[in-house]
Amino acid sequence: MSQAPRKILVTSALPYANGSIHLGHLLEHIQTNIWTRFQKMCGHTCYSVCADDAHGTPVMLKAQELGITPEEMVTRTRAEHHQDLLDFDIDYDNYYVTHSDENKQLSEQIYNRLNAAGYISKKTINQLYDPEKGMFLPDRFVKGDCPKCGAEDQNGDSCDVCAATYSPTELNNPRSVVSGAEPILKDSEHYFFDLPKFEGMLKEWIQSGAIQLEMANKLQEWFEQGLQQWDISRDAPYFGFEIPNAPGKYFYVWVDAPVGYMASFMNFCANNDIDFDEYWSADSDAELYHFIGKDIMYFHCLFWPAMLEGANYRKPTGVNIHGFVTVNGAKMSKSKGTFIKARTYLEHLNPEYLRYYFASKLNDSVTDIDLNFEDFTQKVNSDLVGKVVNIASRCASFITKKFDGKLSDTIIDEALLSEFTQASDSIAAHFENRQYHHAIREIMALADKANQFIDTQAPWVTIKEPDQQQLTHDVCSMGIHMFRVLSIYLSPVLPDLSQKAQAFLNDEFTWNSAQATLTGHNINKFKAMLQRVDADKVAAMIDASKEHLSVTQDISKTKPATKKETSPAPKNDDELAPTISFDEFAKVDLRIAKIIRADHVEGADKLLCLQLDIGTETKQVFAGIKSAYTPEELVGKHTVMVANLAPRKMRFGMSQGMVLAAGPGGDELYILEPHAGAQPGMRVK
Ligand code: 2FM
Ligand code: ZN
Repeated sequence: MSQAPRKILVTSALPYANGSIHLGHLLEHIQTNIWTRFQKMCGHTCYSVCADDAHGTPVMLKAQELGITPEEMVTRTRAEHHQDLLDFDIDYDNYYVTHSDENKQLSEQIYNRLNAAGYISKKTINQLYDPEKGMFLPDRFVKGDCPKCGAEDQNGDSCDVCAATYSPTELNNPRSVVSGAEPILKDSEHYFFDLPKFEGMLKEWIQSGAIQLEMANKLQEWFEQGLQQWDISRDAPYFGFEIPNAPGKYFYVWVDAPVGYMASFMNFCANNDIDFDEYWSADSDAELYHFIGKDIMYFHCLFWPAMLEGANYRKPTGVNIHGFVTVNGAKMSKSKGTFIKARTYLEHLNPEYLRYYFASKLNDSVTDIDLNFEDFTQKVNSDLVGKVVNIASRCASFITKKFDGKLSDTIIDEALLSEFTQASDSIAAHFENRQYHHAIREIMALADKANQFIDTQAPWVTIKEPDQQQLTHDVCSMGIHMFRVLSIYLSPVLPDLSQKAQAFLNDEFTWNSAQATLTGHNINKFKAMLQRVDADKVAAMIDASKEHLSVTQDISKTKPATKKETSPAPKNDDELAPTISFDEFAKVDLRIAKIIRADHVEGADKLLCLQLDIGTETKQVFAGIKSAYTPEELVGKHTVMVANLAPRKMRFGMSQGMVLAAGPGGDELYILEPHAGAQPGMRVK
């Protein structure tokens, strides 16, 4: 596929500067990097930039917790993130930070332009304020009792138990996560961006094919609910940029974060003599793509294009949205050891394995990607070691030892080789369209053909026959040609293997070089290119990840400081509840239940809908265990339920009881399972 050279700028979401890079981030950075490497190989001008997302309350509080300035923390974390990414061969042209001069200047400029065009207004709002800490509290820094069902220790915006959503001011017994103090309501003037003014433009932009259809449909729902004014200011103390002419008011982190894409590129342009405007001016003919996760679609598909339009910049050509990573079928879990940091992975396994595995599963949809470690081990070993590298290792030693390290002058099977070279356009289209799993499938089908060819020709037999030397030379050379084409196609995915193949073949790969053949070419001695995945190392990595429990704990998940007891139930799981009488306990009817069905609940992030067989009847229960289990994992399991809890009407239907589960708080949960033999309906005594 020859195409006029394109000018392309690519970004990945900017990781927050208060935590480590983990598997979830890596899916996106690997997806972006494969796409970028592919474009570069095709000869396009393609730059990729990223940065650390430095601002906001969580970063500020985390730095305080560590006893360092936010600037110091950001500098440290940025360096750590950058190195983690580089070690996965994720090589951004610039990896910057949003706390930079360029970002301040661009954020102010964009704000000033929006303000001058009449898109900014001021309004006084009433918000929860921590009087001890002297700061307004973002929703996630307030906890309390659910206003709908009364469940304790719920987040400021939603209830894990009944899935109700509310504003933090509606919580009963609210407490500041930061100090434990009871928040008060306080007025403050905020700055708002007039998003509704951009509705027409946004609808048009979304329909232009800039985002996947399934996401465009999701956005349609938001339009139906009506776009809202967007609160873009935060009060001091806040780690961020002060709003021009508004002392003590700061840009909300989500204002300057996407501007950080521009700022990182501006910094790159200055150092490399590139024209920034060619990529960002309203009439730019360059392409701009953002790779992001589905959780931050709202910011990238509504606020960001509107900000750009209002400030007279170009809008993204595409926002490429991916799903989340699950591990072994469940959400990543610190206690199961599946919340794996980039560095922990690198200490145990080769980054190419993960690049390959993710590529083999990635497509252009927002479906979650499951990393199943058995499948991972099997796939890498069978495809890369058993199929691709094996082609070279089966043929190379004969070329080196018997034929002077030189490939023969003949292509023994032109038709077969042209199958390989002709696949170029189709595989290229798969990479271009982010259908990496199709690309990998096609490449592996070719690898199978190459191995079949070698099996049939059996050069290890013919090499022993003096009159079959030419045939052996031709066959082994053919094997090397096929290996070469496959290595070219795999280069965006496996940069290290590609480098090793280029060194072995004395060659430099471009996408189009697959069309050339290296007849009569000297190659080098074959060296091992990739080790098999060692299952023990996978296990060791999971074990090591379990040890990171306290280090990876997010500050927002820490329990609020305890306040004076006001209710009989303990506020803190470490304390025992006050004593109850046997009669009180006997009122609770605990039954063995068999989970006969489990379903996701449309619109609920935390709930699964369970059908529980308790012998005499089936009960429906909405359980807040989605963070820990997939429906498939649950079906068939036995558990314990409170069968006589008064039915509760929830947004999604009636809940007729409660399933018992244990957990340290946050997303980690374990349902109780009886010993084998316990039957549905048996009473727990
Ligand atoms: O969700 C996040 O991790 C954000 N730090 C992503 C920011 S992307 C961009 F807008 F800066
Ligand atoms: Zn509730």
